[in-house]
Amino acid sequence: MAATASSPAVPQAKAGVAPLRAGQGHSFLLRRLHSLTGIIPVGAFLFEHILVSNATAISGPAAYAHQVRFLASLPLVPVLELFGVWLPILFHAIVGFYIWYRGDANLVAYPWAGNWMYTLQRWTGGIAFVYILWHTYTMRFTGIDLHEHPGASFGKVQNEVVAPLLLAFYAVGLIAASWHFAYGIWLFCAKWGITPGEKAQKRLLVACLGFFLVLSGVGLASLTSFRSHPQQPTDPAGARIVEMGPGATE
Ligand code: HEM
Repeated sequence: MAATASSPAVPQAKAGVAPLRAGQGHSFLLRRLHSLTGIIPVGAFLFEHILVSNATAISGPAAYAHQVRFLASLPLVPVLELFGVWLPILFHAIVGFYIWYRGDANLVAYPWAGNWMYTLQRWTGGIAFVYILWHTYTMRFTGIDLHEHPGASFGKVQNEVVAPLLLAFYAVGLIAASWHFAYGIWLFCAKWGITPGEKAQKRLLVACLGFFLVLSGVGLASLTSFRSHPQQPTDPAGARIVEMGPGATE
């Protein structure tokens, strides 16, 4: 239970997010692994996905197709996907829901009145989870295979976000994931002792807020570009034309 200012007999929690320390029960290793997977590989993947790969959509369908073709040409793609993305996200999410369910620790240790950040970190994680499930299912496991036909990528996303409700869902998922990751970097640094001082934590908070604006801003700009281009093909022949240009012969 949270201590209150009016009950001096109850020990007050120190302001700020407490560092993770060994010897604090059996869940220490789980909390450390949860914290670490949020940055690497899950956060690193989100960074690449929004700021590198999806940002190429701003340059148009051909540029986007080339980026998807490059990703599909990486060695051992299914292994990379499974061990570098899906399993780490699943692990971080399952442990995240468990931490949320248990209402673990630091209710009084998160900064800012009302513990908005504590609540927001949990809800943005939950929203991101629903979004990631939907996004992975529709983009990876339904319709045309984009690894085989990268040229169909732009059109496939366009079909996905044509309905206003789905567009809104994409925007909300994107903003939630961006906030969760950006503030997560701040949490990570506080917990791993990278920013022990109050001054360093304040500076990093400003940087993380800036990072959130960049991440969500670039993400929303990419999303807008899918809507501002004419509908692109999603069949193999049309995909080839997008990829190779209108003069493609084979
Ligand atoms: C977009 C994918 C995600 C990324 C990039 C991500 C990243 C992060 C990062 C970097 C942190 C800070 C680590 C720390 O607290 O030390 C964090 C914390 C957290 N994440 Fe995620 N996460 C993602 C998805 C999720 C999901 C789906 C959930 C499920 C609810 C979740 C639940 C949590 C919780 C509860 C915390 C706070 C833990 C605490 O306060 O001790 N995350 N996440």
